[in-house]
Amino acid sequence: MCGIVGALLRSGSVTEGLIEGLSVLEYRGYDSAGVAVAREQGVEVCKRSGRLANLENALRESGFGASPAGIGHTRWATHGEPSDSNAHPHTGRSGRLAVVHNGIIENHVELKRELLSAGESFTSETDTEVLARMIDRHWVEEGDDEDALLRAVARVVPRLKGYYALALLATTPRGPVLVAVRQGPPLVVGVTEDGGFLSSDQLGVLPRTRDVVFLEDGDVARVGPGRLQVTDARGVEVVREATTIAWDPSDSGKGKYPHHMLKEIHEQPDVIARTAFDRIDLGAGDVRFEGGAFDDAFCRSIERVQILACGTALHAGQIARYLIEGLAGIPVDFDFASEFRYRQPRVVEGTLALAITQSGETADTLAATRLARELGARTTAICNVAGSTQVRESDAAILTHAGPEVGVASTKAFTAQVAAAILLAVRLARSRGALPEHKARELLEELRMIRPKVESLLTDAAIARCRAVARQHAGKRGFLFLGRGINFPVALEGALKLKEIAYVHAEGYAAGEMKHGPIALVDNDMAILVINAAGAVAEKTRANIEQTKARGGVMISVGSDDASHAIAAMSVPVPVTSEWLSPLLNSIPLQLVAYHIAEIRGCDIDKPRNLAKSVTVE
Ligand code: G6P
Repeated sequence: MCGIVGALLRSGSVTEGLIEGLSVLEYRGYDSAGVAVAREQGVEVCKRSGRLANLENALRESGFGASPAGIGHTRWATHGEPSDSNAHPHTGRSGRLAVVHNGIIENHVELKRELLSAGESFTSETDTEVLARMIDRHWVEEGDDEDALLRAVARVVPRLKGYYALALLATTPRGPVLVAVRQGPPLVVGVTEDGGFLSSDQLGVLPRTRDVVFLEDGDVARVGPGRLQVTDARGVEVVREATTIAWDPSDSGKGKYPHHMLKEIHEQPDVIARTAFDRIDLGAGDVRFEGGAFDDAFCRSIERVQILACGTALHAGQIARYLIEGLAGIPVDFDFASEFRYRQPRVVEGTLALAITQSGETADTLAATRLARELGARTTAICNVAGSTQVRESDAAILTHAGPEVGVASTKAFTAQVAAAILLAVRLARSRGALPEHKARELLEELRMIRPKVESLLTDAAIARCRAVARQHAGKRGFLFLGRGINFPVALEGALKLKEIAYVHAEGYAAGEMKHGPIALVDNDMAILVINAAGAVAEKTRANIEQTKARGGVMISVGSDDASHAIAAMSVPVPVTSEWLSPLLNSIPLQLVAYHIAEIRGCDIDKPRNLAKSVTVE
């Protein structure tokens, strides 16, 4: 949510690198984009509402010159509509300081009032400009050099309420200065001999260096070539260790695909394999996590699991509930992270809070997990980003190995989360004797063999089936996605994908619940996708298909239950696997159907309107 980049080079021009960084971070918000660079006499700003391409055109037309230091921003609007004037960076009155910001300054109205009565004026409606003006005023009072700027920052920060990550660019008599401040949203710093770089996300720094430092809350960092000086919340200078990132910078490109989303859908056979296979111990019929995490003693002490997540990750969490309850016999609750905090939750002794999050930076999930910890739970995470706040704050974490996910609509991160949940459920089950060794081995063997089945859903022929469904139904008034048991959350996820990228109203529903209300919606302008895997609930789901069909519903069956295909108007067959693993397969055609409907409707698939990938505000 809002992408920040900054760089201070030993020599050369920074603009191209800033734009490159912003293009990688554009998934965090794309309401506007802007850059500021340092010149001898002050900072120069160029910013435009709309996509990054608008800024690039403006930069070309304005002949924005070279500078070795700059900051950039791509915005997901929180205060003030997306417009040129509300776009970041914002500057102080001296013209020597520019600020970009991710987050919300909750007391900005009060601070603005104070500044207005002191004679300050504003050009935007943003909370960020309030910050820029305030820091600038204090800087002028303190002096004109870097130390004076740091003193100004130290005076302003204690007055701010809210969550924010800031990058400040200033021009001093001794050259440009780049400062980062973190209180909430992530900030990552990388330093080489050629320059100091900062970004909201490791992807923004990765093209420069794989050794990155994740700043912590309260940190203020000065960044430059070969230089990283960090002071913590108490103002004490601290050393923050670098983490080496395994991701390859080229992983965040589109490769041969027209969209990140399609590329990421196609990566799923690898992603599931990377996340699951090395952790499977077939000999023992068990799962081994790195460093002996989730050992028998830990697992046996868990009396209850509380899942916390948002969006797609919560759907993976709902699947995890079926797995953990069904295989390990441990009671599981799940909550929207944003709701958990406000329902006075009761956390019983022995609770394990399980956060599921691709980014590890979702504000609601972090806040809910912190509350669970305060209430006595131990915390763990299924997360895709090593070094993220969620991972660092958890007692134990299971990393998914999905690689960078750039498409705003999550696909490969979801199947990786489901794969990780299967592993966790088996480990919990084995630790407490809830699953006999031979049964566990059978399930793990099936998981170990799943790759060709996933691949079979991504062949030209399989994709053509999904495209045919999309073509036939893209114009429908609405969509219902129905599933039972472990495939009910798959239905929810299918509906979410369609809403997110194709802007079609879609609802996921428990198949058995249809007759209690939604069936009234059914007519021939409603497409109904039923996810039905061969297994315990297949017959009951088939009965729901018949009930809906009898009311004129246009049925499309997805799954391994052949009898469902026989009674549906269209079908997308999926290979047979254990019902426990079926979400790994059934979700893929739903992703492809949503993708192709969005394509037919001419939607911006990788950057759906109003959304951002990493939501770092509550
Ligand atoms: C946003 C994204 C969703 C994502 C959710 C949780 O809403 O648009 O695709 O599922 O955040 O993100 P996380 O990084 O915590 O998995």
